[in-house]
Amino acid sequence: MIIAIDGNAGCGKSTVAKIIAEKLGFYLLNSGNFYRAVTYLHLALGRDPEDKELCVKTADEADIRIIDGAFFLQGKEITDRELHDPSIDLWSSKISVIREVRESVNRRLRAVAENLDLVCEGRDMTTVVFPNAEFKFFFTASPEVRAERRHLQFPDTPYETILSDIIKRDKIDIEKPYGGLKKAEDAVVIDTTYLTISEVCGRVLAEINART
Ligand code: DC
Repeated sequence: MIIAIDGNAGCGKSTVAKIIAEKLGFYLLNSGNFYRAVTYLHLALGRDPEDKELCVKTADEADIRIIDGAFFLQGKEITDRELHDPSIDLWSSKISVIREVRESVNRRLRAVAENLDLVCEGRDMTTVVFPNAEFKFFFTASPEVRAERRHLQFPDTPYETILSDIIKRDKIDIEKPYGGLKKAEDAVVIDTTYLTISEVCGRVLAEINART
């Protein structure tokens, strides 16, 4: 069974997906981390992030493995903090626009999903990668609340900078010609602006329980 969650950056997708996966004993697939890992590798190799062909080469060369929940890139564990560095935030949103990079990542995501019950989250899980997912959710939240949440995680970065980065990333995510952020027709929309994480999880679980 596939439970797919899409939505903008900072809507609580990753946190909720993790809790739901733990509760149901499902595998957790965070697609954003795949784009982040490709970006991390690309920058670590000193490659030009504006060079599209080179970005595709990096995506194809990236050896990404998840072992016991830990993320490994080219055989080396990479931490959540490294994957969420502000430079990775920025460049991953640009590199993930490239169609061939997306196709490379999507192939890996679908391979992981074979024969597994999983919770996956991203921008195009419900529309492009797993359009046949049994459960589809679309999370939204105001940019200001999302910036506040991220500011709590990264207090050294000014709130205003975080807010303007979020607005920029939303625009890039929505305008992607392939795999852009859009609501699947049959997705359940949850506005997380005024909800706690546990309230969002409650809604997701209620929806799943009501239909199984
Ligand atoms: O969810 P996230 O912020 O960790 O994702 C990192 C970047 O990758 C973000 O800019 C959007 C992009 N992304 C995407 O284009 N498609 C996905 N399925 C997941 C993430």
